[in-house]
Amino acid sequence: MTSNFISFIHKDQIVKIKNLDPNETLLNYIRTKLKKTGTKEGCAEGGCGACTVVLGELKNNEIIYKAINSCITLLPTLEGKQLILVEDLISKDGELHPVQDTMVKCHGSQCGFCTPGFIMSLFSMFKNHSNFKYETIKYTIAGNLCRCTGYKPIIKAAQNLKSKSRVDHFSKSIKKTIKLLKRIKNKSIKIYTKDKKYFAPRYVHELKKILKKNNNTNFLSGGTDLSLSITKERKDINSIVYMNSIKELNYIKNYNKYIEIGASTSLIDLEYYIKKYYPDFTKILKRYGSPQIRNVGTIAGNVATASPIGDCLPLLLSLNAQIVLQDLKKTKILFLDNFFINYRKTKLKKGQFIHSIRIPLYEKNIFKAYKVSKRFDDDISSICAAFNLGVVKNKIENVRIAYGGMAAIPKRAIFCEKVLLKSLLNEDTVNKAKEALEKDFNPISDMRASGRYRMEVAKNLLEKCYAEIKKKKIIGLYS
Ligand SMILES: Cc1cc2nc3c(=O)[nH]c(=O)nc-3n(C[C@H](O)[C@H](O)[C@H](O)COP(=O)(O)OP(=O)(O)OC[C@H]3O[C@@H](n4cnc5c(N)ncnc54)[C@H](O)[C@@H]3O)c2cc1C
Ligand code: FES
Ligand code: FES
Repeated sequence: MTSNFISFIHKDQIVKIKNLDPNETLLNYIRTKLKKTGTKEGCAEGGCGACTVVLGELKNNEIIYKAINSCITLLPTLEGKQLILVEDLISKDGELHPVQDTMVKCHGSQCGFCTPGFIMSLFSMFKNHSNFKYETIKYTIAGNLCRCTGYKPIIKAAQNLKSKSRVDHFSKSIKKTIKLLKRIKNKSIKIYTKDKKYFAPRYVHELKKILKKNNNTNFLSGGTDLSLSITKERKDINSIVYMNSIKELNYIKNYNKYIEIGASTSLIDLEYYIKKYYPDFTKILKRYGSPQIRNVGTIAGNVATASPIGDCLPLLLSLNAQIVLQDLKKTKILFLDNFFINYRKTKLKKGQFIHSIRIPLYEKNIFKAYKVSKRFDDDISSICAAFNLGVVKNKIENVRIAYGGMAAIPKRAIFCEKVLLKSLLNEDTVNKAKEALEKDFNPISDMRASGRYRMEVAKNLLEKCYAEIKKKKIIGLYS
């Protein structure tokens, strides 16, 4: 079934919106149409968390609660979901939600701009986690910035949730909510306005039909890059096809030699899944934006931007990932090495989309990755580095090294690799490899870092990788 309106659940009612502007943000809708002003606008670019709301999504008969930034979420992507605002946390009898209550009692409520966002992030933690440990709390609020009296009272309030009952008015009415979510699921969306088109297909075959007639359309996945052209650059996007509505592309499969990640898989799902194969991949993803960003952002979106500071890209290059592209008729598989052409330019052709990404599984290799940014959480990399080494009897038998933030595109360090390949892994080799980085890169200076700093850090990260291997006696693995 295809509709020209969207349906979502709000306060246990089905809400339908017709005649909507596909470029309208969820935040604008909440504040100006629903007239709920608890949700605030701070930065309008996903960076401060003031606009955080929670979306409930049905998965295997359960509701998964996701904190998201409403400022960069386009309204039509609300289709089929439950919207939860800060105002909705108070029960019908006027009782504060346990998260609100603890914030009041522990003086966690500071300024009116950030507090609603903190409450909503903590609400998602309250619903999704069973423990409220310090690490879980820190992880949960990494995308909510506070510049006044600090995080201590907020963290204390969150820790105090341990003493609260886990039953809230959402859990009491969960059966009804699930029933309503089931009633509105399963429709594709096609919205035509005077000057804009928006499509949300459910299947790849539907997507292909749309592309046949609209090969100039913009793919929207998490929108953590694309939506900013609306909110920051004030541009219109006239034709959009929403990829995250295609459940068929939301998967991670293990094929023994590699894992395949469907294009609409969220970064947060990847973060959990990939830990057992590449713990350092998870380490980097945990510092990728914030939970709000990773709840919607995708690895396909990250690859398609070809950003020189896209965090997944050096990791994927060093792991020799492949990218599966599709158009109306064909499937093409490219090594990521051959995908980036120039600054933010890729080999993606009109009407062609990223279907999935394949990451080889190197059972015996050492994989290490590092991100250096000005701020630890919720910040874009100045430099990101990934090292993939196969070492046998202290000799480097295979090696792939890639850096982000060192050139116009994420790039392998070929000269450095040449020094390392077939050499003994020792200090002398590493020193020579560090020097070779000068041949590989001539980094620019910008607001994130100077060229000199970047080069120095790139060398130091290689040394750090070596020092960690030595220290942890990972060498025992291959000697
Ligand atoms: C606050 C904030 C923090 C951020 N922090 C980080 C960070 O720490 N590290 C980092 O690397 N990035 C970061 N980003 C950048 C952003 O998250 C990435 O660029 C992201 O990967 C984009 O993925 P997406 O799914 O949101 O893509 P979208 O914004 O939906 O799309 C991005 C581009 O990819 C294209 N595209 C999307 N899906 C497909 C597909 N299947 N096939 C073909 N083309 C497609 C779109 O048309 C668009 O051109 C941050 C962004 C914000 C707003
Ligand atoms: S307003 Fe700052 S993250 Fe949305
Ligand atoms: S709570 Fe708003 S700046 Fe601290």
